[in-house]
Formats: sequence, structure tokens, C-alpha cells
Amino acid sequence: MAPIPNPRILFTKAPVAGNFLVEGENIVYEKSPTIDLDQKLESGQFLTKTLLLSPEPYMRDRMRDPSRSSYGTPMKLGQPIVGNGLVLVLRSEKEGIKAGDYMCGFTPWEAYTVQPYVDARVEFKGFAPGTLDMDTLSLHQVSNPGSAFPWRTFCNALGMPGFTGFVGFEKFGDAKPGETIYVSSGASGVGSMVIQLAKIKGLKVIASAGSDEKVEYMRTIGADAPFNYKRSNSALQDELKAHGPIDIYFDNVGGEHLEAALDNMNLNGRVIACGAISEYNIPWEKKDGIKNMGRMFPLRLTLRGFIIGDHLGMQPRFLEEIPPLVARGKLRLREHLFHGLETGIEAFQSMFNGKATAKPIIVVDEEYAS
Ligand SMILES: NC(=O)c1ccc[n+]([C@@H]2O[C@H](COP(=O)([O-])OP(=O)(O)OC[C@H]3O[C@@H](n4cnc5c(N)ncnc54)[C@H](OP(=O)(O)O)[C@@H]3O)[C@@H](O)[C@H]2O)c1
Repeated sequence: MAPIPNPRILFTKAPVAGNFLVEGENIVYEKSPTIDLDQKLESGQFLTKTLLLSPEPYMRDRMRDPSRSSYGTPMKLGQPIVGNGLVLVLRSEKEGIKAGDYMCGFTPWEAYTVQPYVDARVEFKGFAPGTLDMDTLSLHQVSNPGSAFPWRTFCNALGMPGFTGFVGFEKFGDAKPGETIYVSSGASGVGSMVIQLAKIKGLKVIASAGSDEKVEYMRTIGADAPFNYKRSNSALQDELKAHGPIDIYFDNVGGEHLEAALDNMNLNGRVIACGAISEYNIPWEKKDGIKNMGRMFPLRLTLRGFIIGDHLGMQPRFLEEIPPLVARGKLRLREHLFHGLETGIEAFQSMFNGKATAKPIIVVDEEYAS
């Protein structure tokens, strides 16, 4: 067969620390590469077709100057972006993997890939303790018997966002019925999972997001006091004061949201530090400090950060408890679909510029959009 187009999205230049990525400079859509789908595969290789890709906020941290350490390995310059996605195996020379298998996990942002894609892999040597090797390019088979779930569910409720919300809430929340939880970025993949798990457990849920439309969505999934944090400068303080005190703060945003939550915590409250998306595109020297950490000791608060890659041991429990709830419609996460790999950069930026109306997914193969 003649080679066919194999477009991809490359990470080309690390942005100045904390700055937004610039399309065409830091991140580039490349239309010209081709691939011969009949090429000979070496033993251990398999050829996949990309179906769905999942832009996720942590990927921004990987697109950094490699000399700066962080919790995960940096992405490799000049190589495709690597992130979570759903792929279909077309041919395989790897034992245990066969044509027709569906797989989820780390995959390069390109239409077709000879896996494992070792060129994007940073050698995992000399990193600070606690750094996760995010270049394992590991993919695992998934099944969807009877098409119980839309395939995009594997990038959201049953993917990294859902698992993160589950682990953060179940492992670190110590939630008791009747308590009050505040979930920031409540319409995100992680946030909307936490809102619903908290309701199942009998908590009162305060939740914030950046548009009135997201507020309505959070209400439909059970939030008792959803609000738009952009409504006014004092919205965060006003709403948390009106509906608190807060026993658990599930922090996806950091910055002002964390500060407002600390001002409104209850005695013995727990802060679960899951993410700080408001700070990912602010240069280090311009980041605001949290001014009210002094509230930690009088209120006997705990603050616990976690990285999901350290908690893979909870996968079996997640896979036992969550898929049935999703299949029965007890957990409803929604997605903002971007159509075509060429929309990948727009999809990535949408997480940070307020344009995503829900957890973004790039539909690379339209058959898997629904
Ligand atoms: N600890 C871990 O291992 C782990 C794993 C996965 C994710 N996370 C974290 O969990 C959080 C949610 O991730 P996700 O995958 O669920 O994200 P997502 O579905 O892509 O949603 C991201 C949302 O964050 C909000 N946001 C962006 N910039 C903001 C700002 N400056 N201030 C306030 N809100 C802002 C936007 O919603 P609005 O319209 O509401 O502003 C955006 O749609 C992120 O902080 C992420 O880093 C942590």
C-alpha cells in the first residue's frame, strides 16, 4: 500500500517558565508526515490507529525546560506530544496483543503509531526522587462489552480524570455523611466526578466553575450550591461564606480559590490538593503566595497533596465500583468534543483559556465520537 498521511502535533519549544504555549512556536500541527501501514513490524511492535485523545492539564507541566525538575519527566522537544488516549490495534507482532484490540494509555498525538513509540521517550535517569516516568508509553487493553459506554468515557469517567477524582476523594477525603465539601473546577473531568461521589456519600456540595452554563451542569449532577466564580470579584468569598463552613476542600485550582477556601474552613477540615490550574501559566516570579496559611493550626486543618501515578494500586477497586455506576447513569460526566487532530492545539489551549465547556476530547476518528 502507498504511504498515507500521518499528521501529528509536535512539542517544538519549551515556553518561558509559566507562559501560555504559543501555537506555531511551542506546539505545532504537522500535516506532511506519511506512514506505510503495511510496513514490516519488528518483534514486540504493534501498529495502532488513534481514535480519541485526551488533553489533560498535567501535560502543560511536562512541556517545560527539561532542566527544571517537577513531579513528572519532561516531554521531548521535536517529538509528538504524548498523552492519554484510546487506540485501535491494526496489526501486531507483540505477544498478547492482537488486531482489533482497543487500548488506553500514553500514546503520541498522531494518526497512526508503531508502538511502542520509543523516540518520544526521555531516558529515565538522573531525575530527582519522586519524579514519575511519564514516558513509559504504556497502553493497556480495555473492553466495552455490549458498548455499555460511549468510547470517550475511557478518556474521562473511566480514564485519568475519573480515577483521580475517585482516589482523591475516597483516599484522602475521610468524608462523613452530612459534611460539606467544596469542589473547585467542579465542571472539569476530575471535579464533576468528585461532586457526584460526594453526593452518593451524603455530603452537601458547594462547587465553582467559570460560566453560568457550567453552573447549570453542576446543578444537574447534584451540586447543592454551584456558583460562577467569575460573576464578581467577591463571588468566591461570598458563596463560601454563605454555604460553608467547609469540612473538605477538593482543590483543583489553587491561588485565590485555595485562599478563599482556607478562610471558610471548619474545625478539623481537610484540604485535598489535587491541582492548581490557575497557576500553570503564570511565571514563577509572578505567582501570588497563599496569604492565610496561618489558619491551618488554629483550625487543626490538614492539607494533603497527591499525584495519581502513586496510587495505581486503587485501580482494581475503581474498576469494580465505578463502571457499574457509569453504566447505570448514576455518574454522568460530559465532554467537549473537538473534531479532527488538526483541532488538537485548540483543544489543548481550551483547558486554560475558558473555551472548554467540559472536559475536552479530541475525536481523531469520527466513528468514536458518540
Ligand atoms: N494530582 C493529580 O495526580 C492530578 C491528576 C489529574 C488532574 N489533576 C488536576 O485536576 C484538575 C482538573 O483536571 P481535569 O483533567 O479534570 O481538567 P479539565 O476537565 O480539563 O478542566 C480544566 C478546567 O479548569 C478550569 N480553569 C482553567 N484555568 C483556570 C483558572 N485560571 N482559574 C480557575 N479555573 C481554571 C477551567 O474551567 P472553568 O471554566 O471552570 O474555569 C477548565 O475547563 C487540574 O488542576 C489538574 O491538574 C491532578
